[in-house]
Amino acid sequence: MNITYERDLEAKGYIDVAIDPTIDLVEEINRLKKEKNAVILAHYYQESEIQDIADYIGDSLGLSQQAAKTDADVIVFAGVHFMAETAKILSPSKKVLLPDLKAGCSLSDSCPPHLFAKFKEKYPDHLVITYVNCTAELKALSDIVCTSSNAVQIVESLPLDQKIIFGPDRNLGAYVKKKTGRDLILWNGACMVHEIFSQDKIDALRIEYPDAKFIAHPECEDHILAGADYVGSTSGMLKFTMNDPSQVYIVATESGIIHQMQKASLEKTFIPAPPNNACACNDCPHMKLNTLEKLYNCLKFESPEITLPEDVILRAQKPIERMLEISERLGL
Ligand code: 13P
Ligand code: SF4
Repeated sequence: MNITYERDLEAKGYIDVAIDPTIDLVEEINRLKKEKNAVILAHYYQESEIQDIADYIGDSLGLSQQAAKTDADVIVFAGVHFMAETAKILSPSKKVLLPDLKAGCSLSDSCPPHLFAKFKEKYPDHLVITYVNCTAELKALSDIVCTSSNAVQIVESLPLDQKIIFGPDRNLGAYVKKKTGRDLILWNGACMVHEIFSQDKIDALRIEYPDAKFIAHPECEDHILAGADYVGSTSGMLKFTMNDPSQVYIVATESGIIHQMQKASLEKTFIPAPPNNACACNDCPHMKLNTLEKLYNCLKFESPEITLPEDVILRAQKPIERMLEISERLGL
């Protein structure tokens, strides 16, 4: 099945419309937000100035929970395409906007739905759990969706003899396998940001800062996670740094989260875990496509908008709602 997303030139065009340089962007965004009864949901990997103007900042689970319960008419999703799609699936009657439609995801791209459908056919007696970082079409092929906050608990909530396919992230899948002792069948996908960390450079930093804690996101490779003092989702990592007594942290995830860590613990030091390649950084190139200017234009012109075929919305709703129900039951 093919979905034609609204990536037409007209929709894309608005993001670059010239903005009057004399206006105060933050003030104007706040005015438009009130006028249109809009809410801005932002992921922790967004630029700091976008995080600072958001009504809610969170990880993928928190953002889905907010999208499901908001009473705003318009949701501006400062994140990537699959996140805005998830918001649309959960709130189909609302207008969902994404500042730049090109804000995709390498992990989501690593799992084309038509290939996953064939993969799934090989395991007809398996339940399909997909990480939220995937297209709406992939969610529509799934039984339960999960995020990095609840993947372990969702697998643990299923009977021990339940056979499971897990996709698309092989690293999160391997982590869940290790934590639960379950034999999951994994799709071979990965995130371009979380697979670049250098073991040698992290080891060198830990010698330089012997009291530092090393914290990592479960999208990182197994050998990186093996040495971590804490492994968790972005919100899990943030909470850990707020409650832990250490003063220095080496942070193995996208660098945007450090803005919130620093805001919450002004006196602490946060060092981004170094990548293998000296030219690389820990910024997600997709997340960082959104800018305050594009956010302003998107709210002003109510474009680009996320649209999805109704049947995909209906089929993708069930596995996401199942995740939200399990999370609520477990108090996550
Ligand atoms: P969480 O928001 O679940 O921590 O996932 C991080 C991520 O890679 C989002 O793209
Ligand atoms: Fe996708 Fe990785 Fe970027 Fe998250 S950080 S949006 S998983 S490419």
